[in-house]
Amino acid sequence: MELHIHKDYADLSAAAANMIIDCVQENPQALLCMATGDTPRLTYQLLAKRVLAENIDVSRCFFIALDEWLGVSPDNKGSCHWFLQEYLLRPMHIAPAQVHLFDAFAKDEQAACESMNQLIAAKGGIDLALVGVGMNGHIGFNEPGTSVESLTHVAVLDDTTQTVGQKYFSEKMEIKKGITVGLQQVMAAQKLLMMANGKKKAPVVSRLLTGDISNQFPASLVRLLPQAVLMVDEEAAL
Ligand code: F6R
Repeated sequence: MELHIHKDYADLSAAAANMIIDCVQENPQALLCMATGDTPRLTYQLLAKRVLAENIDVSRCFFIALDEWLGVSPDNKGSCHWFLQEYLLRPMHIAPAQVHLFDAFAKDEQAACESMNQLIAAKGGIDLALVGVGMNGHIGFNEPGTSVESLTHVAVLDDTTQTVGQKYFSEKMEIKKGITVGLQQVMAAQKLLMMANGKKKAPVVSRLLTGDISNQFPASLVRLLPQAVLMVDEEAAL
């Protein structure tokens, strides 16, 4: 894993947007697995701006969501669906045929997992995964203790995720379960970009870098991966 420390959130986000553009320019048919949340918001805004300004061809790439809260409507501004549409897909004029998001109301949750697994397999794996890191070290909704062999699955969200996750919603939400691309699939990405910014992530980054490498703190697993880049700002690196 490489560690890149950037001055601040703006620099970090610009560097992340660059990395995504490099990936798409090298492989115009790239499969991109994208997180939501506070961390990547500016990255997506800068990415969309550059794609439009520089006429970068994103018409052949394919976008998948890293995860979703089960039972949260796609119209809800706290949903991963809404976030990806708002900051990434709509601004870049990505066609619906280039996107696969999770259905938060899937009647058959196993089938929803299976269709994501098949899609990832059919495309030969993920080319670039952009992930944040949770306060409990989760990657996507791969919570502490998740098997490194896991494929897309339904996760029972741990208390930290349920509590911290309230920040995305305008009113109190019941968020007990999520659906997520699995650790095995994320860790097999050709390029894994993990981002963290701000003071509150400093203890998480410190444990990620210096603690045991274990699925009890999934983010620590990226240290094993030569193709992983951990990008942080100075506040998160302290
Ligand atoms: C969201 C996701 C989560 C977040 C993580 C950090 O799609 O996969 O794992 O990346 O909880 O969230 P923020 O960026 O809001 O600090």
